[in-house]
Amino acid sequence: MYRLTLFPILIVFKSIGSLFSVPLMKKIKLAIVGATGAVGAELLQVLEKRNFPIDELRLFASPRSRRKKLSFRGKNLPVQELSEQAFQDIDMAIFSAGCKVAREWAPIAIEKGVKVIDNSSAFRMDPDVPLIIPEINPQALRDDHFLISSPNCSAAIMLMAAAPLHRRFKIVRIVAATYQAASGAGFQAMKELEEETLAQLEKRPFARSVMPHPYAFNLFPHDSPIDDNGYAEEELKMLHETRKILNDDQISIHATCVRVPVLRAHSEALNITFNQPVSVEEAYEVLGKAPGLTILEDRKRNRFPMPSDATGQDDVFCGRIRKDLSFPNTLDLWVVGDQLLKGAALNAVQIAELILTK
Ligand SMILES: NC(=O)c1ccc[n+]([C@@H]2O[C@H](COP(=O)([O-])OP(=O)(O)OC[C@H]3O[C@@H](n4cnc5c(N)ncnc54)[C@H](OP(=O)(O)O)[C@@H]3O)[C@@H](O)[C@H]2O)c1
Repeated sequence: MYRLTLFPILIVFKSIGSLFSVPLMKKIKLAIVGATGAVGAELLQVLEKRNFPIDELRLFASPRSRRKKLSFRGKNLPVQELSEQAFQDIDMAIFSAGCKVAREWAPIAIEKGVKVIDNSSAFRMDPDVPLIIPEINPQALRDDHFLISSPNCSAAIMLMAAAPLHRRFKIVRIVAATYQAASGAGFQAMKELEEETLAQLEKRPFARSVMPHPYAFNLFPHDSPIDDNGYAEEELKMLHETRKILNDDQISIHATCVRVPVLRAHSEALNITFNQPVSVEEAYEVLGKAPGLTILEDRKRNRFPMPSDATGQDDVFCGRIRKDLSFPNTLDLWVVGDQLLKGAALNAVQIAELILTK
C-alpha cells in the first residue's frame, strides 16, 4: 500500500489488480462473445494487462462485424459469427453481448463443457448461478459451477465500498443516487453522446437513435424499463443483486438512477444507515484497507473523486465520508468507478482468474 501525498491530497492507493493477478499455470482456450462492444474492447485490454494465460483466443460478435479484426498481443484476430462450432475445444467463454445472446448461446457453450462468465443480467438472479465480485464473495463459486454471472455495474461500484462496511458494522439501509455514464449503455451510446455534443456546439440538428432523450448538456432518469411500482429496472437490480452478493435478504437499498452526459465512469452518492453508530474515522479505517478501493480526498481544496479520476482505473474511488446530521447511525459516501472495468470487464477477468486458481 502506498500513501501518496500529491499536493495535500490524501490518496490511499492499493493495487487490487495485483491481488488476484497471481501466476496462473495452465494456458486456456478462451472465447469472448461481444468482443467488438464497449465491454469487449476493455476485456481485450484487461486480459493483456493482467497477462491472462491464453493458448487460443476466439472473438465473436454479431454478423455486422463479420469482416472486422481486433488486435490482441500484437496479432490481428478475426471476429467471427456465433455457430454450433464456435465453442468446440474452448475451456472458458466471457459473454458481453446482452441477455438475448447469453440466453441462446450460453447453454450451447456449457453443453460443450465450457465455463461461461456472463456480463448480462440474463442469469444473475438464478439461484443456481453464482453472482460474484471476487473481492467480496469469492466463496460463492464452486468447482461444479459452469455458469457464473458478473453483477450490474452500479451495484458492483456501490458494493466495493458498502460490502466492507457491511461486514464490519452491518448496514440496514442504503439510499443511493447514481450519476451514470454513457458507456454503461454501450459503445453506440458513447458515440452518440459525442456526436450530439458536437452537433449542439455547432448548432446543427441531430437525430438520436440510441438514447431516448436529449443527452448532450442534459440528464435524465435511467433509461431502463420502469416497473409498475415506479422503479427503473436498474434501481431494482441494485437492490436484488446486492442482497444476493451479500447473502443478506434484510438489507434495504433504495436507488434513484440517473444518466448523466459523462462518457465513462459512474458516480454514486450513498447514504448508509447502520444498525449501530459508526464514526467517520472508523469508516475511513475500514475503507482504507478494502481491496480494490482508493480513498481520494482533500477537504480543504474541495477535491473528491470524479469520473476523470476513475476512467481507465481498476480501483473504485471513494471520498467525502461524512456523518448524516439528519438521521442516526448514518454516513454519506461518494463513490466513483469505471464501470466498464470493475463493473464489467475487470470483474469478469477476475472471475476467470478465480476459476483458474480455485
Ligand atoms: N457497458 C457497461 O458498462 C456494462 C456493465 C456491466 C454489464 N454490461 C453488460 O455487458 C454486455 C455488453 O455491453 P456493452 O456495453 O459492451 O454493449 P455494446 O457496446 O453494445 O456491445 C455489444 C456487443 O454484443 C455483440 N452482439 C450483439 N448482437 C450479437 C449477436 N447476435 N451475436 C454475437 N454478438 C452480438 C455486439 O457485436 P456488434 O459490434 O457486431 O454489434 C457487441 O460486440 C451487456 O449485456 C451489458 O448489459 C455492460
